Amino acid sequence: MKTVIANWKMNVGVRESVALARGTLLTLRGRKTIPDLVICPPDVALSEVRKVIARSSAKLGAQNVSWEVSGSHTGETSTRMLQEFGVTHVIIGHSERRQHLGETDEMIQKKVAHVLAEQMIPILCVGETKLERDAGQAQEIIRHQLSVALQGVRLRGGDKLFVAYEPIWAIGSGEPASVGEVVEMHRFIDSVLTQLFPDAPEGQISVLYGGSVTGENAYGLLRETEVDGVLVGGASVKLNQFKDIVGAAAEVLEAQQTA
Ligand code: 13P
Repeated sequence: MKTVIANWKMNVGVRESVALARGTLLTLRGRKTIPDLVICPPDVALSEVRKVIARSSAKLGAQNVSWEVSGSHTGETSTRMLQEFGVTHVIIGHSERRQHLGETDEMIQKKVAHVLAEQMIPILCVGETKLERDAGQAQEIIRHQLSVALQGVRLRGGDKLFVAYEPIWAIGSGEPASVGEVVEMHRFIDSVLTQLFPDAPEGQISVLYGGSVTGENAYGLLRETEVDGVLVGGASVKLNQFKDIVGAAAEVLEAQQTA
């Protein structure tokens, strides 16, 4: 299966989210095979977007969550609150939160563990800076982020985990990682995850790519077996782009079925 996740970030208000959700569902229409689709609107739009996607196969995701159950945590949103809106997936450790809000691997670990304990699906983001890549440290950085964020995390039978490789230099830059760079890093991530979760059955952990994914480059990325899906920012709020990304995923799935 291939998964397409739309991260709308802080780009759309409630009214725009409703229109975008309707348009996003239309991108699935008329296709024999469709990828799994997860829509992550801003929290304030979750309730309205939920209504729009209620009768579709699309799932609802949040862009962040607290690791606390409840209490005096001004401005935070809990897993239970998100569940009231029908949220099943949560993006955790996005580089924009790491860079600008001081989110650490240790905080991210608490969120991943808590989200899994609440039977939700974490989308754990990892990625290196340009400086780190140029210094030949990309794999070391990713290994460190994964091992701290997943320390002590256990996956039970029904659990599911997404890891999204999002190189910081590729996010919003119009400069995606090359297919070769993505495949190489995904193989490395797979090897780290196999060490961390030696008993995880096939399909329990999926590795996605994010960073300047567009309608033009999505097919080339998604046709690689190492790429289980894409996490899309900018192009997810541009329906003509997003339609092509969903189309690329559907094409890859159809080709797999006839192979
Ligand atoms: P862009 O697709 O805009 O590069 O953003 C990627 C991203 O951060 C998704 O989480």
